[in-house]
Amino acid sequence: MAVLVTGGAGYIGSIVTEELFKDGYEVIVLDNLQKGHPEAVAPGILFVQADLTNYQALEAVFSRYKIDTVMHMAAETEVETSMVDPRKHYRDNVAAGLTLLEAMLSHDVKRIIFSSSAAIYGEPQSAIIEETHSQIPINAYGETKLIFERTLGWYQRAYGLQYICLRYFNAAGASQLHGEDHRPETHLIPKVMKAILSGDNTVNVFGADYATSDGSCIRDYVHVIDIARAHILAMMRLKDLSGKAFNLGSGEGYSVLEVTKAIERVCGQPLNIKICPRRYGDPARLVASSKRARELLEWKPQYSNLEEIAASAWNWLRKHPQGYPEPAESHLN
Ligand code: UFG
Repeated sequence: MAVLVTGGAGYIGSIVTEELFKDGYEVIVLDNLQKGHPEAVAPGILFVQADLTNYQALEAVFSRYKIDTVMHMAAETEVETSMVDPRKHYRDNVAAGLTLLEAMLSHDVKRIIFSSSAAIYGEPQSAIIEETHSQIPINAYGETKLIFERTLGWYQRAYGLQYICLRYFNAAGASQLHGEDHRPETHLIPKVMKAILSGDNTVNVFGADYATSDGSCIRDYVHVIDIARAHILAMMRLKDLSGKAFNLGSGEGYSVLEVTKAIERVCGQPLNIKICPRRYGDPARLVASSKRARELLEWKPQYSNLEEIAASAWNWLRKHPQGYPEPAESHLN
């Protein structure tokens, strides 16, 4: 029985795949490679290049392989673009997800772990966010993730689908083999590190007038390997915990300015901080309570320290200053 990882050539998907493979699971990666990288799929992993809106391609995958569980990570993830051009988010995060569910149900595959997001909560009403917090997204990205979470709830009732939603806070860091390579890079830690590697140590801080300790936004950075381990725990306990959502965060909030200080220490380079206007769609503070994941999934994150997380990202980026090779050089061709 295999695990199908949609978006398995992406940042989090590649590391989830790596951990599944290490644990001896048969893994099939499905990715349209619009944002994912062929080189992020390790040799030995079955790879299918297809878009999730392509029902025939999904039919072929579910007919050919005996799939036990789907880990659904393929998505549009940028908050800012979801505000100016939300169509892709609705297409890829909602319509494509529905097509995936259609193919799953027609093959009687009824187990799914869904990559959700802290963005579903909107502007927090409390310093630490629990899963029961109100869900009023302030960006279209969060809205699309919430729509899909709710869809899963109705499909559980009607069709007996078993699902768990994992609400990521800010995934960061890298494994030895795989790291973050978005083009263009928008995420704070890799973006700043790439600027250092290019010799331009400028950081644009999007807003220093938030109601936070130093005025910049606060986020909860969680190591991508810890996120990956939570997927495996969720899959193992899916039968008993179906229908639940879990926050995945460290419980520690760091401001953008604090993150830049940590990066200066890790990279040994001073940064040139430029205060810029706020970025559209950014909540001031997102910090998780992960009590539920720790108790019910028995999730024990190994990395709690921001510098350690940043150091793993730096280690990968220094080895791959240009990111993954271009598709023409890929082993999948
Ligand atoms: N930031 C800057 N300058 C930059 C880049 C980012 O100041 O050059 C700031 C952002 O404004 C934000 C913080 O750094 O305040 C973190 O930004 P990221 O882009 O790294 O991450 P986001 O918090 O916007 O989003 C990430 C994921 C989302 C997820 C969210 C949950 O991309 O999918 O975390 O917290 F929903």
